[in-house]
Amino acid sequence: MLNGKHILMIIGGGVAATKALDLIRRLRDRGAEVTPVLTPAAEHFVTPLSASALAARKCYRDLFDLTDEAEMGHIQLSRAADLVVVCPATADLLAKMVAGLANDLASTLLLATDKKVLVVPAMNVRMWEHPATRRNVERLRSDGVLFAGPVDGPMACGEYGPGRMVEVPQIVATIASVFDSGPLSGRHVLVTSGPTHEPIDPVRYIANRSSGAQGTAIAAALRDLGASVTFVTGPASVPPPSGVAVIRVETAEEMLAAAQGALPADAAVFTAAVADWQVANRGEVKIKKQADGSLPALSFRENPDILATVGQMGMGRPRLVVGFAAETNDVIAHATAKLARKGADWIVANDVSPATGIMGGTENAVTLISADGQEPWPRLPKEEVAARLARRIAEALK
Ligand SMILES: Cc1cc2nc3c(=O)[nH]c(=O)nc-3n(C[C@H](O)[C@H](O)[C@H](O)COP(=O)(O)O)c2cc1C
Repeated sequence: MLNGKHILMIIGGGVAATKALDLIRRLRDRGAEVTPVLTPAAEHFVTPLSASALAARKCYRDLFDLTDEAEMGHIQLSRAADLVVVCPATADLLAKMVAGLANDLASTLLLATDKKVLVVPAMNVRMWEHPATRRNVERLRSDGVLFAGPVDGPMACGEYGPGRMVEVPQIVATIASVFDSGPLSGRHVLVTSGPTHEPIDPVRYIANRSSGAQGTAIAAALRDLGASVTFVTGPASVPPPSGVAVIRVETAEEMLAAAQGALPADAAVFTAAVADWQVANRGEVKIKKQADGSLPALSFRENPDILATVGQMGMGRPRLVVGFAAETNDVIAHATAKLARKGADWIVANDVSPATGIMGGTENAVTLISADGQEPWPRLPKEEVAARLARRIAEALK
């Protein structure tokens, strides 16, 4: 599936550099040619010899290599590839890419290339969550840089959390999807999914019954049609699909910030069951039972409306904005009103009253509502609803 594709693989200086060697091997198994480039820091983790042996080609390391530079080697190297993959992408490399620095071979190649760049971040959880890295990631996404991972998990440093490099088979799948010539190839689609959690105090929260199954299926279906998908998910019970860029959030406010950070996108599908309200008087410490039996009185304020915010954007609005309306009564009337009120192009309406078994279940029965009218779909597995919707999105973006 990667036959004849030429991948320039920049290996950064992190512990996960050893996994990049496995990635070279697996990409070559699938027919790709891989040219490795090591940063000076990467050479502390893997040797040029092992990268070169696995790639069966020269491993590049030095910007001022006279032999190569007689032919402007760095420009040629950056242009000859079909795709540039940065794996692992260190916090440092991400920052250099944002700043446009070019003070070694890796950063110069990244600045000189005219090809798509896919970064595979791997770093300590604090480094990943640092505001500087958050800013850099947002900026790179808006520059069109593709991301694979990171994911939550145990780290070499002993900590646990987001920042762990996505597993090698998933990186291979993401790389394959970049070359996929499906009808959505070259398109970026934002999908939100899952519930949000709105804290009452540091240990309690208000949630809803969304499992994330429908949003996950939609992201996978869009990916299968070749889209580059950014998947912003609340704490769902269904794991996110492989081969998409996952951003995990908890609250509606975080979801809005992540969704805005993921733009520009050609289409946005807001599947998440976002809480309408957040607790206005949330406790900074755990709220204790009162000796006199008095009960806590929670007060609420409205959460930001993510669909309306994006639907009503002027410049930078995705060409197609799709909302979901999960209702328990007067489904079509509520959903039709939502279409106009929120500036959406389509609303996918479904009845989630408990008797339907849809919320948390495997099937869905939806009606697609647009300016052209209502189109009821039969009750179908969530994957089939997702596949139909993805095909419709591909048609709309033609
Ligand atoms: C043992 C060790 C492990 C490291 N692991 C990582 C890592 O996983 N991710 C990261 O961003 N930086 C990591 N660093 C820091 C980078 O090596 C350092 O920022 C370096 O300047 C990166 O250079 P490069 O981006 O040119 O490869 C690590 C450093 C050490 C000493």
